[in-house]
Order: sequence, then structure tokens, then C-alpha cells
Amino acid sequence: MKIKTYLTPKMINNLESKSDSIFVYIDVLRASTSVCSALYFGAREVIPVETMEKALDIYKNLSSDIRLLAGERNGEKPMGFNLGNSPVEFNEDIVKDKSIILTTTNGTIAFNLGKKAKFRVIASFTNLSLVVSYIYNVAIKDKIYHCNIICAGNQGHFAYEDSLCAGAIIDKLNTLMNDIELNDASRLSMEIYNLHNNDLLHFVKSTEHAKILIEKGFEKDIDDAFTFDKFPVLPLIEGNNIKTANLDILQDD
Ligand code: MLT
Repeated sequence: MKIKTYLTPKMINNLESKSDSIFVYIDVLRASTSVCSALYFGAREVIPVETMEKALDIYKNLSSDIRLLAGERNGEKPMGFNLGNSPVEFNEDIVKDKSIILTTTNGTIAFNLGKKAKFRVIASFTNLSLVVSYIYNVAIKDKIYHCNIICAGNQGHFAYEDSLCAGAIIDKLNTLMNDIELNDASRLSMEIYNLHNNDLLHFVKSTEHAKILIEKGFEKDIDDAFTFDKFPVLPLIEGNNIKTANLDILQDD
């Protein structure tokens, strides 16, 4: 399998979004983690949208008993929204059976790329093992040998937390498959993951985005986001919606 990592969405070229590929989207702090939390606690779907205007339009057209508007700008919940972008907010009492319209600064823009790809999955540390099994399954069962990992980054810039998660995925795939081919960004991601693997949470708290979140009082979000397999769900993007896949698809035939 050829694994190409893009350290920011700006590095993607449209040609990469071929139908015979799998796209993996990562925004560890915090959109990917919030999607996993929401689906784990029973949300029926998450609808990722790039702009506040579009989010409000979709919200207005959904029935008031099933809709929730969530997201952030500058890390904070926008005025009038039901929820921010903290994974801890997406608990069962609030999200069960709801459609969550989510708009965030970087994550939901990344989640809307690569629409032609046949398989599209949201990844975080909180669902890492399932994402690895899914990519492996897609390679074995569907013979898909192109995997593109999109790191949301931070406003066009590199973000350590996303690259570390890409590295963790690649590291695990590397032990499962012997025909892995990596681009330089994939190699770099795997190398920095292995370098910081023993001290991941402590290291990440020294990096740019995490420091901003800590200042804003969101340190618990970072702790959750770096808890491996805390929210074991498989969020697949189909069309414009993200829904949890039935885990039976990971069974051997
Ligand atoms: C984003 O999409 O930019 C993030 O998830 C930002 C955040 O909530 O900290």
C-alpha cells in the first residue's frame, strides 16, 4: 500500500482524490476527537461544514427536535451555538439520536476534501485501533492500495498533534503489512511518533495548539484526545455526512 501523508490540507492536489483510494482525516485537537465522541455517545450523524453561514442554513432546514449546532472559532463556541468543539461536551444526554452540524476552523474544511475517494474515514487517537483495522481491511478485501492521510494542521501550518496521529497509524500498519510505501511526510510522521511515543501527552502539551487550548481552559480535551481508543467508533464520511459504521464490516468473510 502507498501511504501519502499531507501535513496540511493545502498540500493536496485534486488528482489525489481518485476513486480507488482511501482518505483518512485527522484533526486531533479537536474536531476528529469530537466527531468520535459524538458518535460514540449515540449521535445519529455529524454534518461537517466549512462556514458558519452554511452551518446555519443546514440547521434551519432540520427539524428542531433532532438538530444541534456545534463548533468553534478561535477555539470558542460561537454565539448562539448549542455546543462548542470540546469532546467532553458531546455526552449521551445531549447528543443521543441528534444530527450535529459541526463547523470548525480547520477540521471541517479538511473533512470536505477528497470527495471522490471511495473510502473516507475520520481518525484520532481515540479510535486509532479501529481506523488501522479499517484501512487494513480495505486493502485486503477491496484491493485499495492508495491511502492518503490528511492532517488538518492549523490554518495552513503544520500541527504536531495531527502528524503524531498519522505516525501512530502508519507505525501500526507497518507491522501488519509488508508492502508499505511511504512518502516523506509519512516517514517523518512515523519517525516523530516513535520519537515521542513514550511521552506523548507530556510532549504534546508543549506544542503550539495545545498551549493555546490549555490557556483557554481546555486541558481536559487534550487528555481525552490522547487517550488511545477511548471512543471506539468508525466514523465514515458518505456524501456530506459522517456516520458510525457497523463494526461487522471488520469481520473476516
Ligand atoms: C479546528 O478545526 O480548527 C479545531 O478543531 C480547532 C479547535 O477546536 O481547537
